[in-house]
Amino acid sequence: MQDNIIADRMAPYLQLQMYAKFTQLAVKNSCVNMGQGFPNFPPPQFLRQAIAEEALTESLQYTMTAGHPRLMKAASDFFEKHMGVKVDSAKEMVASSGAQSVLACVFQALLNPNDEVICFDPAFDFYRPLIEFQGAKHVGVPLKPGQLNSKASILNRFENGKIKFSKEDEWHLDYEYLEQKLNAKTKMIILNSPQNPIGKVFSIEELDRLAEILEKHPQIIVCEDAAYHHVVFGGYQPFSYPRCITHPKLKSKTVCVTSAGKMFSATGLRIGFAMGDEKYIKAIKSAQTYHNFCLNPVLQTATAKCLEQTIDGQYFTEIRDLYEEQSTMLLKGLLESRLNLHCWVPQGGYFLVTDISDVEIPEKYFKDDQDGHQLTKDFAFAYYTACEIGVVCIPCSPYFENKELGSRFVRWAFCKTTETIQDACNRLK
Ligand SMILES: Cc1ncc(COP(=O)(O)O)c(C=O)c1O
Repeated sequence: MQDNIIADRMAPYLQLQMYAKFTQLAVKNSCVNMGQGFPNFPPPQFLRQAIAEEALTESLQYTMTAGHPRLMKAASDFFEKHMGVKVDSAKEMVASSGAQSVLACVFQALLNPNDEVICFDPAFDFYRPLIEFQGAKHVGVPLKPGQLNSKASILNRFENGKIKFSKEDEWHLDYEYLEQKLNAKTKMIILNSPQNPIGKVFSIEELDRLAEILEKHPQIIVCEDAAYHHVVFGGYQPFSYPRCITHPKLKSKTVCVTSAGKMFSATGLRIGFAMGDEKYIKAIKSAQTYHNFCLNPVLQTATAKCLEQTIDGQYFTEIRDLYEEQSTMLLKGLLESRLNLHCWVPQGGYFLVTDISDVEIPEKYFKDDQDGHQLTKDFAFAYYTACEIGVVCIPCSPYFENKELGSRFVRWAFCKTTETIQDACNRLK
C-alpha cells in the first residue's frame, strides 16, 4: 500500500478533533459538558415552525448559488436595521454553510500560498487549518490579560444579579509587537469580536488604533468574525457594538462573517454570511459555488422567515439577557469552586476562560492515556476535571501559537441551561 495516500496538508489534522474527543469523554464519564459551544436548550419554536412550513412548500431543487434571494433580502434588511450598514444583497453578500464554510470560502478566495494571516491569540482553533489549506501562514499575536483577578475583586463587582466588566478584565493587544509582525506578505488580519474563547469585545479605541496601523499597510484585508454579534453584554447592544464593518476607516477593507445558526441558538442550521465590498464578495461567491454549489433551500427560506419575524430585535435582547445571566452564574460557580481558579468577566460570546496556574493536578493526568506522551497543564486539567469532578471544559493551548502561555488557560461554555450550569457548579464546589 502507498504511504502517501493522504495529502501532506492534512497530516497535522488527522487525529480525532479536540471538541469531539472531550464530548466523547463527557458521555463516557457521565460528565456535565461545559466544553463544546452548542446551546443544550431547544432552538426557538418559531424556527422549528418555519422549517416545518418551508419543508412542505419549498421545491427542494438547486437554488441561487450565492444564497436564496429571500434569505439575502431578509439578512440585508436585518443587518441594515440593526448595524446601520446598507448592503446590496446581490453584490455585497453571500451565504454559505455556517460561518465555518464562509471562512473557508473567504480564505480560498482571498489568500495565496505564502500569504500571512494575523490571528489574535487565543484564536478560534479552526482558523489555522483553514488558512494552512490555502498554503498561507497563520501568525499568532497574543492578547494578554492585565492581571490575575482575585475571587474577592470580581465578587465585589456583583450588582443587580450581574458581575460588571471592568478594566481589570481586559486582555490587551501589544500594538508594537503587532507592527513588528506586519510585512509585505501580510494579507489578512482576523478580528473575532466577541472573541472565542475569552469573550473580548474590541473597543472603539482599539479599532481606531488598528485602523491607524493598517493605513500603513493598504494590502491588508480585515476578516471580522462576528459569529457572536448578537451576544454582547454590559453597555453594548447586540449587532451595533464597535465593529470593523461599520468603522469609517476599516469598513472598505473588511469582510464580515456572521452565523445564522448562532443567532438562532441552532448550531446545526449551517447558514452563515459574508458581507463586504463587491471586489471581495465576487470571489467569495465563486469559492462558495465550487464548494457547496448552493445551500438547502428549506433551511434558507425558513431562516429568512425568522430574520423577518425577529427584525424588531426583541428576541435578540431576550437571548442576550439570558446568556448574560448564564455567564454570571457560571462565573460565580467557578470562583466559588474548590479549585483555585482566576477568572475574567466576558463581554460577550458563549465562553469564558479561567487561569489554572494555581491548581494542583495529580501527576498521572499529565500522561496521555493512549500513547503516554507528556501533556500540557491545560489538557491535564481538562482530563482531571472530567475524571474526578465530572465536568468537561476545553484546554486552551490549541488557541495559542505560544503553547506555554496557552497551557495556563481552559475554556468553559455558558450557552447551557440553568440546570446544566448549576449541576456543573455543584460538582465543582
Ligand atoms: C469564532 C467562531 N467563528 C466561527 C464559528 C463557526 O460557526 P458556524 O457554526 O456558523 O459554522 C465558530 C463556531 O464555534 C466560532 O466560535
